[in-house]
Amino acid sequence: MKITYYGHSCFTAAVNGKTLLFDPFISGNPLAGHIDKSKIKADYILISHGHEDHIADAAALAKESGATIISNFEIVTWLSRQGISKGHPMNHGGSWSFDFGKVKMMNAIHSSSFPDGSYAGNPCGFLIETLEGNFYYSGDTALTYDMKLIGEYKKINFALLPVGGNFTMNADNALIAAGFIGCDKIVGLHFDTFGYITINHAEAKEKFSRDGKELILLKIGESINI
Ligand code: NI
Ligand code: MN
Repeated sequence: MKITYYGHSCFTAAVNGKTLLFDPFISGNPLAGHIDKSKIKADYILISHGHEDHIADAAALAKESGATIISNFEIVTWLSRQGISKGHPMNHGGSWSFDFGKVKMMNAIHSSSFPDGSYAGNPCGFLIETLEGNFYYSGDTALTYDMKLIGEYKKINFALLPVGGNFTMNADNALIAAGFIGCDKIVGLHFDTFGYITINHAEAKEKFSRDGKELILLKIGESINI
């Protein structure tokens, strides 16, 4: 499965011939100025919560690519009022089989409102099951014991977790989360974008490797096969 990182918590997963784009925030990211948004072709856009650093480019990219939004009911409805007609609303604990695989909406400990301050439903993460492997994107979240349920529920090939701290878990807590999930390969997200979430890359990676796990911190624009 090919993962491409677009900065902050935005990435694509190319799976079963489809491109899944997560939490599009590129034009407002000072570190992602070299990313050409018009080159991102998504079949689906998955949105974890309503905060601007996760949703800013969703409407524009959905319009350009004709992608289907997968998010909670509130976010799908909010985007439909902006002319995004293709949306699949879900809520926590629910799952649905799409043409690329199965999505289960997971719990996240965070807050969620739209950039205008209105209610955006509850924040979530996504568990994605496909023929090319399973992965978990937690969204913005604290470390939570709920993650143990994921480890008991499914074998996860890799997980994408926030590591920047302050607004979410930091790398230390993401390492504990990796244990809860039962997954040794973690792609770090939600770091370095703002002063509050700047991290020491070498130190964070070293903590993971001492525990027999791997923390992958991609460069913005970089792709990996995982
Ligand atoms: Ni947030
Ligand atoms: Mn965020």
